[in-house]
Amino acid sequence: MNLEEALPPDDRFTIVQNEMDWLRLPFWESIFSLSNGLIGMRGSFEEPMPGTRSRPMTFMAGLYDTLPAALPELPALPDWLTTRIVLGGSAFDLRLGQVKQFTRWLDMKCGLLRREVIWQDPRGRTTRLSFLRFASLADCSLSVLSVRVAPLDWSGQLELEADLTMPPVPAGRGRESSRSHFELAKSQSRADGTCWLATRTRQTRRPLVVAGAYEARTAGESIPGRAFILDVEPGQSCRLDRYMTFLADAPDAEPPTKKARHVAAAAWREGFDAQLDRHVAACQEMWNRIDVEIDGPAEDQRAIRFNLFQLATLCPRPGDFASIGPRGLTGTRYLGHIFWDAEIYMLPFFSLTNPQGARTLLTYRYRTLEGARRKAKANGYRGAQYAWESADTGDETCPRWLPDPQTGNPIRIWCGDLQDHITADVPYAIDQYLKATGDEAFLWDYAAEIFFETARFWASRVSRNDAGRADILDTMGPDEFHIHVHNDAYTNYLARWNLLAAADLYDNSAFPKAARQALIARLALTPDEPGTWREVAANLTLPHDEKTGLVNQSAGFTDRADVSPDILRMPRRVPIIDVIGPELTVEAQVLKQAEVVILQYLLENYFDKRSREVNFDYYEPRTSHDSSLSVSAHALAAARLGRIEQACDYLHRALYLDLDDLVGTTADGLHTANTGGVWLSLVFGFAGLSIEGDRPTATPRLPAAWRRLRFTLTHHGQRYTIDCTCDGARIERAP
Ligand code: BGC
Repeated sequence: MNLEEALPPDDRFTIVQNEMDWLRLPFWESIFSLSNGLIGMRGSFEEPMPGTRSRPMTFMAGLYDTLPAALPELPALPDWLTTRIVLGGSAFDLRLGQVKQFTRWLDMKCGLLRREVIWQDPRGRTTRLSFLRFASLADCSLSVLSVRVAPLDWSGQLELEADLTMPPVPAGRGRESSRSHFELAKSQSRADGTCWLATRTRQTRRPLVVAGAYEARTAGESIPGRAFILDVEPGQSCRLDRYMTFLADAPDAEPPTKKARHVAAAAWREGFDAQLDRHVAACQEMWNRIDVEIDGPAEDQRAIRFNLFQLATLCPRPGDFASIGPRGLTGTRYLGHIFWDAEIYMLPFFSLTNPQGARTLLTYRYRTLEGARRKAKANGYRGAQYAWESADTGDETCPRWLPDPQTGNPIRIWCGDLQDHITADVPYAIDQYLKATGDEAFLWDYAAEIFFETARFWASRVSRNDAGRADILDTMGPDEFHIHVHNDAYTNYLARWNLLAAADLYDNSAFPKAARQALIARLALTPDEPGTWREVAANLTLPHDEKTGLVNQSAGFTDRADVSPDILRMPRRVPIIDVIGPELTVEAQVLKQAEVVILQYLLENYFDKRSREVNFDYYEPRTSHDSSLSVSAHALAAARLGRIEQACDYLHRALYLDLDDLVGTTADGLHTANTGGVWLSLVFGFAGLSIEGDRPTATPRLPAAWRRLRFTLTHHGQRYTIDCTCDGARIERAP
């Protein structure tokens, strides 16, 4: 590829920043994040920006650590991006002098972050600087950065120095902690241009080696090393390339120093162009699987691709022990914990575009089953109760107390105690994965154990009322405004689904005999248990008014007072709690996010269209969308109801949620559940996809501004192209 070319011509694949935006440095850093599933880095500048709001950070998926009296979190890794550039005695710093030209762009087609700057230093000398980086999609342990500098009108000394330093202590705000997570075991720089840091996480004792191979090139000469002083003339271009490897290992293992150095040095020997070509080829292969093309406005196409690119590149690799948190590897919010976002909002995308990746995400839930068993036991239940927030053990990591953002006083957080639905969300998502892939090995080897253990949990979680029916009391649905509710609709319907799915699996004659027997013995499952699951399912309270079709979100919900619709319709960027106050938020009929609306999409076959319409009309105007999960859920549900205008409005909010910082928190990282929700709305919403049968079907209803919607997916190992127009869908097998 020609790296000297200016902006890539395809603006439908490019996010561009054309001028410096000092007030929003962290926002752009999130937008320009890059990941390859193992390593994720924010799009911070290479030159140091001390004292600004810049938050340079690199993370590794699944590498958690805990500090004393704190929760596990994904810590920022050692800094490998910082580059000190001194131009004839003036340190390159965009805060000084004059920025003559500035363009930064995310080339999503090739997976590159690039920046071109022409800068005049305070003494009036002008220099052209170019930066290019990628997190290799061909070799996930490798990241590459190239810095190029050319004086335009001066001659003198150019100093270049690449840092490799221990991570700074995090700033410590809200849920973030304030001590370093790594202790240094060893660091070394060699004359051959390699350098490494061997570290270990303080509490989880996991070794991490960051190794780099560094090389400067100028006037046809290659010089290995990290720091250089070069004599330069106007027009003479110099570059400093680095090839970085990040390798972690199991707790207490020796740091994999040799291997990391070897990988970095081998990448360097192979050369920049070879690494770039392999990465770009892998990126293009990814687009062949994930792209959703529209014949419609270019900005919508770009926004669609932005959401897909950021989600697809977060997927862990087979064998990794990791899933995707609400901000992926793009920020510290939510500490990298894993929520239902991964299963309900993101997993379907992977199941149909990257089945191996989806399997890896679900294997994470299998490997955290022990923690879920511990949670159930501690709460007096049987089986497995998944953590609302999960890290590397599956134990509950949701904070019980958080400081009130206004007063600083501690507030009790009940999600980890009450948000039971996650325990059904996991098997539900597995079932969707199985429908997409037909992966029977996963079903028998992993899923069955999860199904049985979660069904056991539900059977022990219910209470019997006087009429002998089963209730789920004192719980919390996705609408987190209402705490300690009874018979939450989302929870009860999915719990019933879970109980029946487990009983059906137990009775499934295709279950290989030996595997079935071994599992039954291992879990000490008694023959009466599946019968109990069916009985509990049959008697579980399921709110649904047969006459009106309305599903009461939780007992007594529809009797609560209504907030004025004018308030809810008012455009706002602050949470509803700041408008109507905390008392009303928890007492009135105002929802944080889609609850019955998303339930009726997930279990669409349980409800007729009239009921879905009635509930959409009831709950949508009462929803504050204070969770970033909400708008895409509404786009999806509205599109499936054929309400295309309304669906477009919600889709627009989802498409631009991060790009236009619509919720004001993009600086803290991208909203990954929303990126998955965008794909759901396009594919299951507007294209009306169904994967219930032997092969996919689609009943499209397109936005007026689009003439076409086209995508591919993999169903049971077969690739299909789905081409939708207003006349219907053409579905073809793809090679
Ligand atoms: C939402 C949850 C979500 C979490 C992480 C919360 O604000 O209410 O549903 O799982 O954020 O995205």
